[in-house]
Amino acid sequence: MNTLIIYAHPSKESFNSSIKDQVIKELQRKKNEIKIRDLYQLNFNPILTEDDFTSFAQNKVPKDVQAEQSAISWANHLVFIYPTWWIGMPAILKGYFDRVFTNGFAFRHSKDGPQGLLNGKKVIIIQTTGQPEQYLKPNQLISAMETSVDVGILDYCGLEILTHKFLYSVPYVDKETREKMLKEVTDLTELL
Ligand SMILES: Cc1cc2nc3c(=O)[nH]c(=O)nc-3n(C[C@H](O)[C@H](O)[C@H](O)COP(=O)(O)O)c2cc1C
Repeated sequence: MNTLIIYAHPSKESFNSSIKDQVIKELQRKKNEIKIRDLYQLNFNPILTEDDFTSFAQNKVPKDVQAEQSAISWANHLVFIYPTWWIGMPAILKGYFDRVFTNGFAFRHSKDGPQGLLNGKKVIIIQTTGQPEQYLKPNQLISAMETSVDVGILDYCGLEILTHKFLYSVPYVDKETREKMLKEVTDLTELL
């Protein structure tokens, strides 16, 4: 199986970096083929420009977007790893969706409505938070993030979501809890 890891955190010292390393280690152990798109390391340009609009309208995509689309086409599985920033994903990842999940590649519209074009691919999302579950859930903030990402983006494009895992209160938990979290990450890789 081919797995594409799409990772959006700027710091090597972050817990997200440990999650990424754990996912890579487990997938290598399982002998999955892996590609990693570390968006900050790639210096991925997340800004959808006027030139992009002109290209997209002519059914052309810029070279950097083409490279990302080829990686997605290659993959059977996508794994997104990112922290919660302002009840959403980091802007660099939002810009990745803006520029890479284009009309004609990820979805298209017909008279019968929208049609996802990434069918057959499966997705795991691992998202860390700073706020605790007891704050996020009663305020419907988890369901809001699940709806916007899982339904609004991924399912819309035909992707099957295996799980959207939230790891809560990451900056405030002790070492033992973080180790348990990494064990949960290991278990998730069994889905791939
Ligand atoms: C710009 C910014 C915005 C943030 N917004 C939220 C938020 O809306 N909700 C939340 O639970 N945590 C928020 N956080 C906290 C991060 O989610 C948390 O520190 C991170 O998930 C911990 O993982 P890390 O050590 O890999 O960075 C924010 C952090 C930053 C830097």
